[in-house]
Amino acid sequence: MNILLKALLSVLPIISLLFLQSCDSNDGIKLAEKLQQIKHSQHSYSKIKELRTTHLHLELDVNFDNNTIYGVARHKVENLKNVDTAIFDIKYLNIQKVTVGQHKEKETDYVIGKTDSILGAPLFVSIDSTVEYINIYYNTTEQCEAFDWLKPELTEGKEHPFLYSQGQTILTRTWIPVQDTPENRITYSADVKVPKDYLALMSAENPTSKNATGEYHFEMKQPIPAYLIALAVGNLEYRSLGTNCGVYSEPELIDKAASEFVDLEKMIHAAEKLYGAYSWEQYDIIVLPYSFPFGGMENPRLTFANPTLITGDRSLVSVIAHELAHSWSGNLVTNASWNDFWLNEGFTVYFENRIMEELYGKEVADILAVIEYQELRRTLNSIEKEDTKLKLNLSERSPDEGMTDIAYIKGAYFLRTLEATVGRQKFDNFLRKYFQDHAFTTLTTEDFLVYLDKNLLKPNKVTFNTTEWVYQAGVPINCINIDSKRLDEIEDLAKNVGKGKKLKEFKKIKRSDYTTQEWMSFIRNLPPGIDAKTMKLIDQVLDFKNCGNSEIMCEWYMLSINRGYTLMRPSMEKFLNKVGRLKYLEPIYERLVDSHYESDYDLAVRIFNSAKSNYHPIAQKSIESIIYKKQSL
Ligand code: BES
Ligand code: ZN
Repeated sequence: MNILLKALLSVLPIISLLFLQSCDSNDGIKLAEKLQQIKHSQHSYSKIKELRTTHLHLELDVNFDNNTIYGVARHKVENLKNVDTAIFDIKYLNIQKVTVGQHKEKETDYVIGKTDSILGAPLFVSIDSTVEYINIYYNTTEQCEAFDWLKPELTEGKEHPFLYSQGQTILTRTWIPVQDTPENRITYSADVKVPKDYLALMSAENPTSKNATGEYHFEMKQPIPAYLIALAVGNLEYRSLGTNCGVYSEPELIDKAASEFVDLEKMIHAAEKLYGAYSWEQYDIIVLPYSFPFGGMENPRLTFANPTLITGDRSLVSVIAHELAHSWSGNLVTNASWNDFWLNEGFTVYFENRIMEELYGKEVADILAVIEYQELRRTLNSIEKEDTKLKLNLSERSPDEGMTDIAYIKGAYFLRTLEATVGRQKFDNFLRKYFQDHAFTTLTTEDFLVYLDKNLLKPNKVTFNTTEWVYQAGVPINCINIDSKRLDEIEDLAKNVGKGKKLKEFKKIKRSDYTTQEWMSFIRNLPPGIDAKTMKLIDQVLDFKNCGNSEIMCEWYMLSINRGYTLMRPSMEKFLNKVGRLKYLEPIYERLVDSHYESDYDLAVRIFNSAKSNYHPIAQKSIESIIYKKQSL
């Protein structure tokens, strides 16, 4: 055993030979010391204040035969502190070799640290301080958590497989070796090879049709954090929806998608009018298969969207307003760490609502805000008190745990309350300047609070309980109240269902009499003790269980589990096998697992076992933990 290996192993006995892929120079001891010093305050092993990537060029070969990407990640780096080791984040990647240099490459030594189940492992690359290019040759593995490789049966066309990635929060490291912290911004380019007949798309300048070679080149010229690097490959078609926007989907869905998102250009104009020019030139949407674990994901220039948004009545387009709003809050101005996640999502929910108000009026926007408030109340009762603070502490935890209604809705209500205090015009001017002053940078909650004080509160001589909003649990007493007459009416109707005469009147109602959000509120406000017989009657009139609108169906499934309305189980099972969106899966599985009816737990296990391979790895993990929680009790 060479001296270097000995040194490493004596310092770190936990690191087995397996992790020491290659190391035979005299810098091993330094590497070992570094391995010990690792601090991962930012959910990343990289130390971007010492050495950072400025540009990344990717060469990717997408292989559907073995669901593997063979890649080279070419990092152009800036060595700020003349260090002799570069650190990247990797998780479940197979590293083949590492070289340095641009035109003439030379192999260099590297060491992989111990793998943490959340963070993955640090990849230490030995360099001399003049090195400008570091090239990592690698391939993805079966354990890749970012990728969903779909069999043809799970696509609309059922003939071609499909691949898409999900990087947020820290999954980019499972398909690219990168410095995976939102604090670092990089530009990127890519050469991607896919089989003929497939189109490849990225969060970059995109092609609008397939070519004969299957080789595509991409450029993202604006600097973005690593979690926003994204890829989708499939049988895809493009439809323009305006001068700088359009939609991609499988051919079978393109007409429906184009009709659902017909207001896209108007939304972009409304957003620009509110908070300044759109910085990313083009804005497209790609409608992914049903397994996509989110409603939408704001990958720059190319929002990823779940097909459940296509309802035929445009009733869920607020998700598109949300993802578009992220082009300012999140993508242009980014949370510096995942503890500051509300800076991304709270601002975006606020902005989303303003876009909805511009396009569809205050009544519609208020209904959405009230629905959100109902959700926030539910969440406040169900999560740890500590996690109801806007500023989170996610150290030693998965940053995905920050994705709760607190960041989104409490965050948005904080901004709405500020708006109500200083007046809309002042608040809008402030936000416009905020986006301008922080464009292409990251900031912490504390940076924001200082900025808020200096640019809004002090000049207007306003005192405001910001500390309480940000650092204390729950929702402060001064939180503004938004109400909606229309929701009050439907609530009233709901509360009286089952009470003799009212039920008769109810029978005259059609589903088209009310909107999706009104029906959601209706279901949420039905009498808590409602029985299965009454639910069946409601279904006979309104057919919630087969209505095709995922938001309504999800509310209905949740209530039916609680109330033992078992007749809808076949419909629910079909839904859980088809849709992989976490917003629906989590509450439905949770209710099945917690149900008073013993057989519901077995039902959850059975459905999960058959549906699991239809889910993205993120959803598989999340539902597994819901089911496992019960087993371990
Ligand atoms: N950026 C999020 C999705 C996300 C958050 C993915 C954290 C991974 C980790 C996206 O913008 C989002 O919030 N989507 C929501 C829709 C929205 C209208 C609340 C969703 O998917 O439900
Ligand atoms: Zn969002």
